[in-house]
Amino acid sequence: MLSLQQVRVRLEEAGQAHVLRFWPELSEAERGGLLRDLVQLDLQGLRAHCEGAARAAGRPASGPDPLLDPVPPGAMGSVRKSDEDSLAEWEREGLFQISENGVGVLLLAGGQGTRLGVQYPKGMFDVGLPSGSTLYQIQAERIHRIQQLADRKHGSQCCVPWYIMTSEFTLAPTEKFFKENNYFDLEPSNIVMFEQRMIPAVTFDGKVILQEKGKIAMAPDGNGGLYQALVDNKVLEDMQKRGVEYLHVYCVDNILVKMADPVFIGFCVSKGADCGAKVVEKASVAEPVGVVCRVRGVSQVVEYSEIQPETAELRGPGGELVFSAGNICNHFFTRAFLQDVAENYKGQLKQHVAFKKVPFVDTCGNQVRPTKPNAIKMEKFVFDVFPFSRNFVAFEVLREEEFSPLKNADGASDSPTTARNALLAQHCRWARAANATLLDGQGNALPAVASASEDNPPVQCEISPLVSYFGEGLEELLTGRMLTTPLLLDGKRAKELLMKSSVGVLP
Ligand code: UTP
Repeated sequence: MLSLQQVRVRLEEAGQAHVLRFWPELSEAERGGLLRDLVQLDLQGLRAHCEGAARAAGRPASGPDPLLDPVPPGAMGSVRKSDEDSLAEWEREGLFQISENGVGVLLLAGGQGTRLGVQYPKGMFDVGLPSGSTLYQIQAERIHRIQQLADRKHGSQCCVPWYIMTSEFTLAPTEKFFKENNYFDLEPSNIVMFEQRMIPAVTFDGKVILQEKGKIAMAPDGNGGLYQALVDNKVLEDMQKRGVEYLHVYCVDNILVKMADPVFIGFCVSKGADCGAKVVEKASVAEPVGVVCRVRGVSQVVEYSEIQPETAELRGPGGELVFSAGNICNHFFTRAFLQDVAENYKGQLKQHVAFKKVPFVDTCGNQVRPTKPNAIKMEKFVFDVFPFSRNFVAFEVLREEEFSPLKNADGASDSPTTARNALLAQHCRWARAANATLLDGQGNALPAVASASEDNPPVQCEISPLVSYFGEGLEELLTGRMLTTPLLLDGKRAKELLMKSSVGVLP
């Protein structure tokens, strides 16, 4: 452990001596805390980090339009455009790999969720479903069900380990929440939580920000901090020990995420891909999502702001957008590829600049809450490893079935209401596809609505992932039934329905 004197010298070398400005005023406990934080920092890399941040912030946000091409058809799959046989074949392959314990899922849960504005990890959020399920609960139930589907098909007793990347902000509350919920009945040893690194927020002139007199303002290093965190926490070794060859990486906030999706896994495996991305068709030219495409022949995600409007508007012969593959942070990686990234490429990942409002103490020690951005946070993005792939594929899925992120509080897009409605609307579609009639409280049949919205919410029909992962297995429970809503079809209710052989109105 470095001494105070050694830390002081290194801070001076890095041009950051001000960090110890309030040292004489700090209590013993505060001094201990600050010293611990400083020792954990990469003090040798601090000058480069601060100067790099200030330089990057000074550069214009979007560069010239690079030479873009869409993902070539040979490297592109699509739920919409594929025949039933191909989809079934990919699903079969994916379920086989799952049954062989070859597939793991990895949740990116280190973000601070500032836009949603809650003080706890986003995965603990309850969007207001009839079940009261949180995002973590829904995801845990999907793991249960996909294991069950693979086992039924292959007579196995498989396990899909759940890797969860957290940060200093989310690790302790997430651990506590899982414990309190009895790990959602999953085997605790198959849930591996680990922490990503934190890096200092920096002023526009390259100075580390003091959030309090004895505390540096730190932020997680972006979801692309994954690759360093895999190394720091020996996650790849854990995968190897378990025989996990394929990893499905996803964001915490997509309520419709199909974890370990056998169709996607099967597609990627059958194409021999080392890296893959699920995409959805862009909703409009102006939708601010990154586009999966090629830049000078290299696969990557190009940010919305980096594409010139003329390029974004290009259309093919059928009128469809040429650059329509919207990135939804839902990726496939082989373990071998991740190993390669860890060994050879993780130091080359691009740094993205975000301007944020970070509370700080001024030189006189006054606490200031800035009203406009005062800080640079440097972030790495999980998709920035795509250029290192030797065989990259993209797989287009239907937005209404697979993508509804929770980003903002109610009143904006991508909110608890839009997420809840997306899930309920999907479950109504499943129930109706299984030939159930949904009734209101007075016994009147409810018509199917084409699209739900805030003014036109979907019928309250929720189906636990423990009963159905993606609409499968519902015929035997629901066909010909008249079901009163609100309806929560959980495991207990499913058993009751199975026992009632006659068709009738069920409360
Ligand atoms: P977002 O970019 O939406 O960020 O993260 P966020 O932190 O959740 O929300 P805001 O921007 O503060 O409102 C996309 C995904 O990446 C994860 C998030 O937890 C989410 O699953 N993430 C983000 C990390 O795991 N680490 C990070 O450092 C940043």
